[in-house]
Amino acid sequence: MATLIRGGTVVNHDWSRRADVLVGDGTVVAVAPGLDAPAGADVIDAGGCYVLPGGIDPHTHLDFEFMSSVTADDFEWGTKAALSGGTTMVVDHCIPAPGQSMLAAYQDWRRKSEKAAADYGFHMAVTWWDKQVFDEMETCVKTYGINTFKHFMAYKGALMVNDDQLYHSFRRCAGLGAMPLVHAENGDVIFHLQQDYLERGVTGPEGHAYSRPPEVEAEATSRAIMIADMAGCPLYVVHTSCREVHEAIARARAAGKRVYGEPLIQYLVLDEDEYRHPDWDHAARRVMSPPFRAKANQANLWAGLQAGSLQVVATDHCAFTTEQKRMGRNDFTMIPNGTGGLEDRMAVLWTSGVNTGRITMQEFVAVTSANIARILNVYPRKGAIAVGSDADVVVWDPAATKTISAKHQISRIDYNVFEGIACRGLPRVTLARGRVAWLDGDLRAESGRGEYVARDPFPAVHVANSAWRELNAPKPVRRVEVTP
Ligand code: URP
Ligand code: ZN
Ligand code: ZN
Repeated sequence: MATLIRGGTVVNHDWSRRADVLVGDGTVVAVAPGLDAPAGADVIDAGGCYVLPGGIDPHTHLDFEFMSSVTADDFEWGTKAALSGGTTMVVDHCIPAPGQSMLAAYQDWRRKSEKAAADYGFHMAVTWWDKQVFDEMETCVKTYGINTFKHFMAYKGALMVNDDQLYHSFRRCAGLGAMPLVHAENGDVIFHLQQDYLERGVTGPEGHAYSRPPEVEAEATSRAIMIADMAGCPLYVVHTSCREVHEAIARARAAGKRVYGEPLIQYLVLDEDEYRHPDWDHAARRVMSPPFRAKANQANLWAGLQAGSLQVVATDHCAFTTEQKRMGRNDFTMIPNGTGGLEDRMAVLWTSGVNTGRITMQEFVAVTSANIARILNVYPRKGAIAVGSDADVVVWDPAATKTISAKHQISRIDYNVFEGIACRGLPRVTLARGRVAWLDGDLRAESGRGEYVARDPFPAVHVANSAWRELNAPKPVRRVEVTP
């Protein structure tokens, strides 16, 4: 079945012009002005609209059991929410329990994701280390098409790994042509700060923010950057929340290290005042790690997106209901960590980024799809409107408006951290591999239509940092024997 998107302005990360887009069999067949509709084709009028590559959210946790709760959005509702907001692919986290086989965890996640309405891929988490993990990483890369491995430097006693494990895993990534991702917070220090605040009687959600200051994130980021450099691999730092972390990433990049940073849409528009809200529920709903930061950090993160020292805007969608958050009523360390955002990332970023002149439309495409598609080695299948690309296409109406409200959302949680934000610029139509998933406010996405997207590893020569060069070109010092 063919579809012609007629009369819009195509915006890719690297070019933008008036053009029609012809879609057939799930891929883009032609991009040019004045295309004729083949017999029987559907025609979508994109007059006055931009035609963008579907968004890719590389950081989600759907149907995830964490801190004794299972997220309310599973693969069906998380991906439906995504499609309604113009995001056509998610990369979720496959997280083996410590001691569990990666292969078993992969099978669990494939089963959970059968309900997905949008395309998806996985990052595999390294939550423990021994020869089994070393061996199974190869299967993940070569058989399952997973070229990214996630490491939690926080969540002590649960998912956290130490430097010894980081180094071994990073070396393995380098050898396999894979890239490590880090949740960069110093879990040991956080643990002690949490105890200190609880002892002082700080039990509410504000304690969550006090016990995770920017320093714990900056220290862990710097450490991970140095370990990656010594191991000879690139590094992707997830949920980059503050100036100190952005500076560490920018410094590393200026020194030639391949380090990527991912601010979340939440950090760009929300700040730590949320945790001082007099309503406990309001504050607890916003508990996530790292926490929202002082407002001054926002300008710094925007500058990173403008300058290219930060590359991707994600959500870390990990949605718990108010009832689930109340597990931590008397102790903030028991509040399940995570917020939502998948449905609103594109509209909030357009409103706060493009409409304000902070980023251009092409930069919007770069940070919502093209950059991460390249980082994950799926470009231009994803992240571009080009002949041969998957027909993941959004007809974006820059004049459409809505005020975000949990009452009207598709996500299964009972609140929205962006509640009340007035957006201008919304998806009018979302096509997922050529099928209409969202049309003028009508959700047409079907559970089970999403496909698993396997990703090839990078050639090993891709990863050539300074330590790698030293390790591979050792120069022993030749000493002259002196006879007395
Ligand atoms: O608070 C968060 N971010 N929850 C999800 C798990 C993680 O750390 O990414
Ligand atoms: Zn995290
Ligand atoms: Zn996460």
